[in-house]
Amino acid sequence: MNEKLRIHELLNATDPLSEIEISGWVRTRRDSKDFSFIEINDGSCFSNIQIIADQETTGYDEIQKFSTGSAITVTGKLARSPGKGQKWEIMATSISIIGGAAEDYPLQKKRHSDEFLRTIAHLRPRTNKYGALFRIRSKLSQAIHQFFNERGFFWIHTPIITGSDCEGAGEMFCVTNLDLNAIPKKDNKADFNEDFFGKQAHLTVSGQLPLESYCLSLGKVYSFGPTFRSENSNTSRHIAEFWMVEPEVAFADLQANMQLGEEFIKYLTQYTLEHCGEDLEVFLKFVDKDLLSRLENIIDKKFSRISYTHAIEILQSSNKAFEFIPSWGKDLQSEHERFLTEEYFKQPVIVSDYPEAIKAFYMRINDDNKTVAAMDILVPKIGEIIGGSQREERLDKLSTRLQANNLSEEDYWWYLETRKFGSAPHSGFGLGLERFLMLVTGANNIRDVISFPRTPKHLEF
Ligand code: 4AD
Ligand code: MG
Repeated sequence: MNEKLRIHELLNATDPLSEIEISGWVRTRRDSKDFSFIEINDGSCFSNIQIIADQETTGYDEIQKFSTGSAITVTGKLARSPGKGQKWEIMATSISIIGGAAEDYPLQKKRHSDEFLRTIAHLRPRTNKYGALFRIRSKLSQAIHQFFNERGFFWIHTPIITGSDCEGAGEMFCVTNLDLNAIPKKDNKADFNEDFFGKQAHLTVSGQLPLESYCLSLGKVYSFGPTFRSENSNTSRHIAEFWMVEPEVAFADLQANMQLGEEFIKYLTQYTLEHCGEDLEVFLKFVDKDLLSRLENIIDKKFSRISYTHAIEILQSSNKAFEFIPSWGKDLQSEHERFLTEEYFKQPVIVSDYPEAIKAFYMRINDDNKTVAAMDILVPKIGEIIGGSQREERLDKLSTRLQANNLSEEDYWWYLETRKFGSAPHSGFGLGLERFLMLVTGANNIRDVISFPRTPKHLEF
């Protein structure tokens, strides 16, 4: 019986193996008169393995069919390779085609632009770079669970279909099973009483509100799943469907929240450097020459901390020609965030205590009655990577904030009850997984770090 192995196992072998079987996709094939070299990759790791087949190999008469992109199975011996740069190769006893690749297989040549590969998102994971990227993405997702598990957090699965707007920004996709060509109407408006849930439903923009009720029960919790935003911003940092990690901690204030956010980013960065070896190499060598020093800079120093008010002063006295003039009361634009973290502090910076009017209703109002206990973590090349706050735990103040934001207490009755029964200070934040992947790989476009990106006017796959 041949033992079925994957390339990452074969490459770690300590001794030759006599009867092995391996399956994968052909990357290249070189033929000489009497034998052929076939390089295959099975996705288990960055490296390919070389197969040597000759007239003695069963199936060799069909060697012309083993074109780039074909799926094949090989049996043979794992032998020490005399060639440079590879420790092991396979001397094939048999080779067979599982699925041939037609002549117009688009990944024939080695290098393609990211823009082109986006148009074939169903095939791009077969390239070296994207294979590496999606292995890093998977490892980081595991590391996220590890980080929280080590610290006693519980993973809560918050719903994706929601009846409330967490961020109050109205950037939500509607979920309905009404016939859109014959929408039932009442007083000339769509009658959602007739809809599936008997009320308007949306895809969630954040798991935070339901998570808060579990935080005030289980103490330390997090959610990690897809979130959806219909904001029509066609930038390199926004997508309509992305994955957010959201911790929420009871009896924790804004300072503790900042501390957790900083620790989390450092842990994940360190993890990437320690565990993503060959896959990370691609990005360090070919994508971004400054990547390593940027990652080390994240781990080495304590993040800077400044208030929003101070940030505005820095921006105003910078003499920099911003497109949007910074002024107290206006939200920080991406260009402002990047100036602060890249040029002024030259390292990650946590900006806190934003004006109440530009932040969500659930953030805790400060004693000055003008600012809220919010914090954003800004990092070089990305800008905002984490957004979070201490939550308003005082029932009367929360009611006032809801009213000020034109949100009805009726809709948020259950959220208000968490403040009525055993309320406690608590804090949390959200980190966009894709933004983090951009940070650690140096990828310039968020569309390139998620399998099938969803953006305005684009739903190809
Ligand atoms: O700052 P945001 O909107 O915060 C929240 O949703 C809070 N409810 C989180 C919380 O406190 N539990 O989003 C959090 C993070 C951002 O910092 C960013 O990294 C990411 O989510 N993000 C996006 N990533 C990709 N595309 C988008 N359209 C994103 N919008 C936010
Ligand atoms: Mg934000």
